[in-house]
Amino acid sequence: VPRRSASDRYHDRVARRYDAMYEGDAYWRLVREITWKHVRGHLPREAGARILDAGGGTGWWALRLARSGFRVTLADSSTGMLEAARRKLAHLDLPHPVTLVQSDIAGLPELDDRCFDFALAQGDPISFCSSAERAAAALFRVLRPGAACVASVDGTWGGLDPVLDKEGPAGLERYLRTGRTEWLTRDKDERFPVRTFTPDGLRRLFGQAGFEIRSLIGKTVLPLRRLRQQLEDKAAYLRLLRLETRLHGEEGLLGRAAHLEIAVRRPAA
Ligand SMILES: C[S@@+](CC[C@H](N)C(=O)[O-])C[C@H]1O[C@@H](n2cnc3c(N)ncnc32)[C@H](O)[C@@H]1O
Repeated sequence: VPRRSASDRYHDRVARRYDAMYEGDAYWRLVREITWKHVRGHLPREAGARILDAGGGTGWWALRLARSGFRVTLADSSTGMLEAARRKLAHLDLPHPVTLVQSDIAGLPELDDRCFDFALAQGDPISFCSSAERAAAALFRVLRPGAACVASVDGTWGGLDPVLDKEGPAGLERYLRTGRTEWLTRDKDERFPVRTFTPDGLRRLFGQAGFEIRSLIGKTVLPLRRLRQQLEDKAAYLRLLRLETRLHGEEGLLGRAAHLEIAVRRPAA
């Protein structure tokens, strides 16, 4: 078993209540709906194709993909998250059972070369791991030529306001120099470094690993987090969902988003 990182310690602790943190919140429902629409356009067409859910956590996406008929492998470095995923998935009757693997996304040494038809990395594992470059290279390695990958990370520009609020001008200077901040939990032992990306930095990360860039969206480019209450109303939810999806690929608006999501492809040749 690999050494537990601070991110593992944090995720181990929150694993049991992780799903509850997101369920019952209209903002996160909307973000997941947007994500699914974006991901769907890049999924393999063949039923039973092999999908890697890297940093898959409690298995929310793995379950959705397995229910769509794919053969899913969920890889995560946190024992607690894998345990939560096992509890959730074990008793379900799925077309193909989900395979769970403890693995660090910055290398994925437990996984073979070119064995997946698609990879997903949702909810920042690339921002949280020890090397985003190694993570991008590992994703490239395990995908077969021609296979796509959709990954979401923390956006640098979207972090400006919270960093200024929490760390003041000197903190903002440091943040702009490094692109790095810290996941602030009350327990110092669980604080872990978070690497953020500008839109160009994210394209560079995947481009240098050998991928072709297909699309880049912000999640979310409208300030929907503070409209949580309004999103509880079905008509407002649908209206804002439509507007957000119309705008979220606009280059000039990407900086407004807390998260960036990139879709890439390993070249077919
Ligand atoms: C915010 S959660 C997202 C979980 C899931 N992908 C989702 O969208 O619901 C981040 C996940 O990344 C995992 N993670 C963090 N660092 C990792 C690493 N180096 N390798 C693999 N997984 C990692 C955490 O354990 C956690 O499950």
